[in-house]
Amino acid sequence: MKSIFVTGGAGFIGSHTCLLLLEKGFTLFLLDLFVTSSQKSLKRVSLILRKKGIDIKGKIYLVEGDIKNKYDIERVFKMSFELNKIIESVIHFAGLKSVAESVKNPGLYWENNVNGTINLLKVMEKYNCKNIVFSSSATVYKAKSNAPLFENDICEPVNPYGNTKLTIERLLKDIYNSDPSKWRIASLRYFNPVGAHESGLLGEDTLGKPNNIYPLITQVAIGKIKEIKIFGSDWPTIDGTGIRDYIHIMDLAEGHFSALNYLLKEKPQFLTLNLGTGIGTSVLELIRCFEKVNNVEIPYSFDNRRVGDNAFVMADNSLAKKILNWIPKRNIEDICRDGWNWQLKNPNGY
Ligand SMILES: NC(=O)c1ccc[n+]([C@@H]2O[C@H](COP(=O)([O-])OP(=O)(O)OC[C@H]3O[C@@H](n4cnc5c(N)ncnc54)[C@H](O)[C@@H]3O)[C@@H](O)[C@H]2O)c1
Repeated sequence: MKSIFVTGGAGFIGSHTCLLLLEKGFTLFLLDLFVTSSQKSLKRVSLILRKKGIDIKGKIYLVEGDIKNKYDIERVFKMSFELNKIIESVIHFAGLKSVAESVKNPGLYWENNVNGTINLLKVMEKYNCKNIVFSSSATVYKAKSNAPLFENDICEPVNPYGNTKLTIERLLKDIYNSDPSKWRIASLRYFNPVGAHESGLLGEDTLGKPNNIYPLITQVAIGKIKEIKIFGSDWPTIDGTGIRDYIHIMDLAEGHFSALNYLLKEKPQFLTLNLGTGIGTSVLELIRCFEKVNNVEIPYSFDNRRVGDNAFVMADNSLAKKILNWIPKRNIEDICRDGWNWQLKNPNGY
């Protein structure tokens, strides 16, 4: 089996995906700058696999480095050549993801996400590696009211973070068009990845700065934050709170495994796929489910709507299901149980 180059592999989605890929027998080369993560997640990946009796000696190589620096990316390719473990594909998770931070500091986001990806693609060309799975986001879409989003719906991000993701998608399309007989590219638009690995050893470590509703809920449950602020109680939804499509992190990891396999087995192509469950859950439903499944209380209060928020963001995932033969298997109860298990076992993160 050939090797995979994973950028940002120590992060939330990266670490869970690396765990799955190692379990499936892939050899991984990771490049991470540990800006929003730490090496501890990778130690946990090893621990989980050791407990399962899976030996990963000679199967994972880590380079600390920056995608903004072409030399760091080259180091990874060179290492794979020296070890005669040639990199066949890239999974590109590395990126900054805070919408609020991107509004305050757009240059940082464009430089890191867009320039970093340009560097990566240039080095891939140089080493003749033309398979890539990219982490895109539902934030690229123009919001719709009360209807699922399809891949060919209008894209019109409303913040710099979303702009960087859409720009990278367009760049990838141009790269594909430059040599359509060689490039295999999948751009995966994630909806709301949440939850944790069932062991409770791997999860989302927000490094004390939770931004999204799910890690905020787990932090309220454990007593680190007093209450949840719900932005808007008058959205045109069943209970007035915003509806989102929450996808269990391990279902998302499985989506990457399926996308990679599909790309490698099929003819060169450019694919854009939604990775979501197709099921909408309101903020109040999520809180109530979390309380019920885990027998804890989540105090909350209502605040005004935030500028740029939407009532309803949900995937139509039929294309991913059909093409990848992938189905999200875990439901909102699993998400609430696994996320709480992780938070309880790791009250301060890794
Ligand atoms: N988590 C979400 O809600 C979500 C939703 C849609 C898309 N995404 C995208 O998925 C990808 C992974 O997200 P995540 O939730 O795992 O985030 P994360 O912050 O946990 O992980 C990102 C990883 O990339 C690394 N990184 C960032 N900039 C880097 C650089 N210049 N060089 C090397 N490494 C760098 C970080 O250190 C971290 O390990 C990101 O591109 C993000 O934009 C995430």
